[in-house]
Amino acid sequence: MNERAPRRTSLYRSLLVYLSVPLTVLALIAALVTYEMARYYANRAHDAELIEQVDSVVKLMDTQPETFRAFSPQALFLIQYDPDGFQFYSITSARKGVIAANFQPPVESLPATVNEPVKLSTIRAERHLRLASRSFHPKVDPGDTVMVTVAESFTDRRRWAQRILLLTIPTLLLMVVGLIFVIRSGIDTGLKRLDPLITRLRRGDALHKPLLDADVPSEVAPLAGTIDTLVSSLREALAVQSRFIADAAHQLRTPLAGLRLHSERALADPRPEVLEDALGHVARLTDRTSRIAEQLLSLARVQSVQATLPQRVDLSAIVPEMVGERVPDALRAGVDLGYDGPHPGSVFAMIDAAALHEAIDNLIDNALFHAGRGHAATVSLSQQDGTVQLTMEDDGPGVDDAALARLGERFFQVAGGNGGSGLGLAIVEEVLSRHDGRVRYARGGAGGLRVELLLPAAQAPGKVDETAG
Ligand SMILES: Nc1ncnc2c1ncn2[C@@H]1O[C@H](COP(=O)(O)OP(=O)(O)OP(=O)(O)O)[C@@H](O)[C@H]1O
Ligand SMILES: [Mg+2]
Repeated sequence: MNERAPRRTSLYRSLLVYLSVPLTVLALIAALVTYEMARYYANRAHDAELIEQVDSVVKLMDTQPETFRAFSPQALFLIQYDPDGFQFYSITSARKGVIAANFQPPVESLPATVNEPVKLSTIRAERHLRLASRSFHPKVDPGDTVMVTVAESFTDRRRWAQRILLLTIPTLLLMVVGLIFVIRSGIDTGLKRLDPLITRLRRGDALHKPLLDADVPSEVAPLAGTIDTLVSSLREALAVQSRFIADAAHQLRTPLAGLRLHSERALADPRPEVLEDALGHVARLTDRTSRIAEQLLSLARVQSVQATLPQRVDLSAIVPEMVGERVPDALRAGVDLGYDGPHPGSVFAMIDAAALHEAIDNLIDNALFHAGRGHAATVSLSQQDGTVQLTMEDDGPGVDDAALARLGERFFQVAGGNGGSGLGLAIVEEVLSRHDGRVRYARGGAGGLRVELLLPAAQAPGKVDETAG
């Protein structure tokens, strides 16, 4: 069964979705502007026609005086004829009254003075009409005043505008489709510029030299920079890791070489006293080797990213328990191990309890092995200003200032280290740094070693603000 590829978002599709609304709005605006422009020009053309008609009626009446009495049916037909509709007209004389008319123009649309140029007006009474009017003194009877009005409805003008709009729509659609293609090829061309970067990534160049150079487009520079940072921190982590593996191998080689030496000695000289001495060495070296293996595992455990998530832990309840578990070991080692802390339910921290257990065990191990028989060691717990302080102090020999500064380094041991592996305090530091805490080393009040673990405190569950009220 082949696995289904995860659904990815597409740059092209999201850009289209993002642009679809503004594109639609722009197309609508373009259509509206086109329609208004078409109407404007249709109006101008039709107005010019109306004016021409009025002027030709005036000319007709001046050149053919018989029209003054009555218009011939042919002349009337020509006046009211319009290929796209029907025209209204009204020709009235001040002296003779109506000469010819098929409608009554409203008074406000008529020109106020005689012989002024044709007056254009619009009425919206029962019909929506455009009117052209002019009054003049006819040559046959200069004392008379004749008023000529020709009018038409807007149907034709609207039809023209609509026709032009219909012609523009395909052009607009073509532009939108063209734009979609331009976007697609723009994205393709833009992404092509990433090819050299992808090739360099594929070749693994980033491992040797930074990706971020002059060839990287500025928009991708943050991405290349982030990859560089990631790679360099990985490289650092790998270097630390391989140094650690080399150190660990070195640490294991010493006891293994000893094991080989003492077993060969026993094989070569089977006298009971030599055998006993060699076996004693073998037993100690085996302990040492298994301690190193155990501590390496423990360090790997606390380092592992999959370590359980920190939870709110009642330190004032679990720390005394952890110390209590080690009392039998302390009795065997001749160390007086004690605990000093507030009652359960008072100190909390967000911590992985198993990791904390490893840290405390290592501190107690150190007190038992490095302070030694006849000494006392006390674990104490307190909280101040949001910081939890867990202290292990003993009255043993402690360490000098130079060694104090190096405590916590991996494999660091003072003068032979009493058979340990030199990883105990490194484990403690790892646990603390994983919980935003830190470790402080100092000389104890009685000259021994004092190790302080500082951790951010957590609120007690369901705690209410006691200062309120
Ligand atoms: N309580 C102490 N008193 C005196 N010296 C100490 C004490 N704790 C640690 N040291 C010194 O610090 C060194 C480092 O301690 P650390 O716990 O890291 O390693 P270790 O105890 O030698 O080995 P292990 O990994 O088994 O714990 C010890 O070898 C010891 O010399
Ligand atoms: Mg130790």
